[in-house]
Amino acid sequence: MKIDTPTIDLFKKTVWDFYKINRRDLLWRNTDDPYLVLVSEIMLQQTQVARVLIKYPIFILQFPNFKQLAKASIKDILHIWQGMGYNRRALYLKKIADIVIKEYNGYLPDSPHILETFPGIGQATASSIAAFAFNKTTVFIETNIRRVYLHHFFKGKTEVHDREIYKLVQKTLDTKSPREWYFALMDYGSYLGKAVENPNKRSRHYIIQSKFEGSDRQIRGKILKLLLKNSTSEEDLFKMVDKDPHKIKKILQVLVKEQFINFKNNKYYINNF
Ligand code: ADE
Repeated sequence: MKIDTPTIDLFKKTVWDFYKINRRDLLWRNTDDPYLVLVSEIMLQQTQVARVLIKYPIFILQFPNFKQLAKASIKDILHIWQGMGYNRRALYLKKIADIVIKEYNGYLPDSPHILETFPGIGQATASSIAAFAFNKTTVFIETNIRRVYLHHFFKGKTEVHDREIYKLVQKTLDTKSPREWYFALMDYGSYLGKAVENPNKRSRHYIIQSKFEGSDRQIRGKILKLLLKNSTSEEDLFKMVDKDPHKIKKILQVLVKEQFINFKNNKYYINNF
């Protein structure tokens, strides 16, 4: 899409003007400590801001830096993660802390290309961390940002590919203060989510999150919750989870493969590393 300078300037003014009045004072924005930014960005990948606002302070109080997180057991981390969903991320955070301590002298690298090689960090998260912790002029899209661009530049268009949006994010980037610019985009996008018919429905990447009730995710959460209390035999898990045993068996296999849990003396237990 061709856009001229006045269009870009007007767009930027709209976003900045909105932000001046409506800036969300979110806890994780008062810092550029790379560890704290990493934790918040991983949490915000798949959990709503309202819930992260509750869990994030508890998490960072208990694990205030890479060293403490690397020392923590997966059990302790999962205890705090309860209620956040997508618990793989808890394991990823622990693995990242191990890598940072062992391979990077305790400092998170500022290169998005290196960050992308870490478990649980894709292109968007690597870029958001580099922008928020190191004020780098990276380019990325997440759900709120996507909404802003669809609303402003793709009126009436459907099946819009992120490739198209990405080019515009790049063209309109505020290179002087990328960190603040992305906060502004996210706040404006979050507002649009409530104010207008969700523009993200016109994205080619729009997916309605599957129902939690009865899902594998729910079974997985239930299994981990039970194992956090006690190591348990397969037969007892079948009874307590009370869902299709084949499904439970499959999920247990995945959890073992991911190194969340292990099996010894006829019982499953949360890994202790
Ligand atoms: N502020 C910083 N990162 C954020 C995110 N991923 N979502 C919402 N607000 C944020």
